[in-house]
Amino acid sequence: MWGGRFAQGPSSVMREINASIPFDKALWRQDIAASKAHVAMLGAQGIVTGEDAATITAGLDEVSAEYEAQGVPVNWDLEDIHMTTESRLAELIGPVAGRLHTARSRNDQVATDFRLWVRDAMDEALAGIAALQRALVTRAGEHADSIMPGFTHLQTAQPVTLGHHLMAYYEMAARDASRFADARARANQCPLGAAALAGTGFPIDRFATAAALGFDQPTANSLDSVSDRDFALDYLMAAAQTSLHLSRLAEEFIIWASQPFGFVTLPDSLSTGSSIMPQKKNPDAAELVRGHSGRIIGCLTSLMITMKGLPLAYSKDMQDDKPPVFEAASLLTLCLAAMTGMVAGATFRTQRMRAAAELGYATATDLADWLVRQANIPFREAHHITGAAVKLAEGKGVALDQLSLAELQAIDPRIDDRVFAALSVEASVASRASHGGTAPDEVRKRVSDARRALGLE
Ligand code: ARG
Repeated sequence: MWGGRFAQGPSSVMREINASIPFDKALWRQDIAASKAHVAMLGAQGIVTGEDAATITAGLDEVSAEYEAQGVPVNWDLEDIHMTTESRLAELIGPVAGRLHTARSRNDQVATDFRLWVRDAMDEALAGIAALQRALVTRAGEHADSIMPGFTHLQTAQPVTLGHHLMAYYEMAARDASRFADARARANQCPLGAAALAGTGFPIDRFATAAALGFDQPTANSLDSVSDRDFALDYLMAAAQTSLHLSRLAEEFIIWASQPFGFVTLPDSLSTGSSIMPQKKNPDAAELVRGHSGRIIGCLTSLMITMKGLPLAYSKDMQDDKPPVFEAASLLTLCLAAMTGMVAGATFRTQRMRAAAELGYATATDLADWLVRQANIPFREAHHITGAAVKLAEGKGVALDQLSLAELQAIDPRIDDRVFAALSVEASVASRASHGGTAPDEVRKRVSDARRALGLE
């Protein structure tokens, strides 16, 4: 395709290092679509005859049918998907195939194909996140009243509800979705027609090709068009952030499924056994989601480092943009599916969760708040009084509400027997009805907001 000025062909090392066909064959659908949009425009503009445009279009359909049936052939000599397709087109329709590459370059071609691919990957991520959100709101609605310990520093802090805890991940997922939607809107401009770097002297219609490929408009600067990979980085940044959230959720399940916690029984379908210890049921899927987030973040780092030193416009380094994006996309799809299945299929052991919430003096803050409200004691002093009560209870090995009124009054005489109503875990969560708080009624409101946002009601 470019041998005119060379006396010698490339060495085997050159052919191997140069070839992107082993991975960019994944772009074949986008490559065919972009070529068809391009040749239709060339025909409409009279840059090629209507007859040649029709021949090329039919030939591209034939190549496409072959790829669909047999896969894309990998031949290093043909370097990439663009040359592979053009070469097969020439075999099928003869020299007229050579007119397809008028007024374009592989530089704008690959930028266009890759944008189309990444746009689809963004849509796939959005669908996967929506599925996770549906699972989260469903389980959160079921467990708006289920009490569990809330943690800070992984130490029991205050009682919360499981529904509230799950809705925290709904919020993360909602932000992840908005990042992908935002990235998609920004990416949706068509670089086709930027040609090698400077635009073209042919009377092309970039608005027509942009519209034909579902883009909002053509890109505005030809140099930027062929050297911009922000759309891929935007995708990877959103994917890395999403995978980080999935990893945190996976970590919750790993902890909750451990025997000392026993908060959850994972679905058999997303667990594995041990070849030596018959009793084991391991949270491998969750562990791999946690692990895969490291790989996805690595994909982002990889492309950032590839891009950071490149002058305008295209450099061959940019061929390395695809493997990290492809890898991240397939990992992200898997991780989203695994966590959606885990959330939907987990059996929450609400008795154990509730029992754990009773341990660790989780309602100590409620005692302090009661002293503030009922006895008009400044919070700092109430905190101190409560600390003494916790110390006494701890020494006796009992819960706060198992101390007698006399014992509590010995610590501070302003305490009366109404305090016991405030010390139950139910009273504790019900009292936290501030906007976004853990009170069951508040959680139900947020679940119904979320169901509306997801189009579920
Ligand atoms: N295979 C190349 C890539 O993925 C296509 C662009 C080649 N352009 C060039 N000037 N060599 O980036």
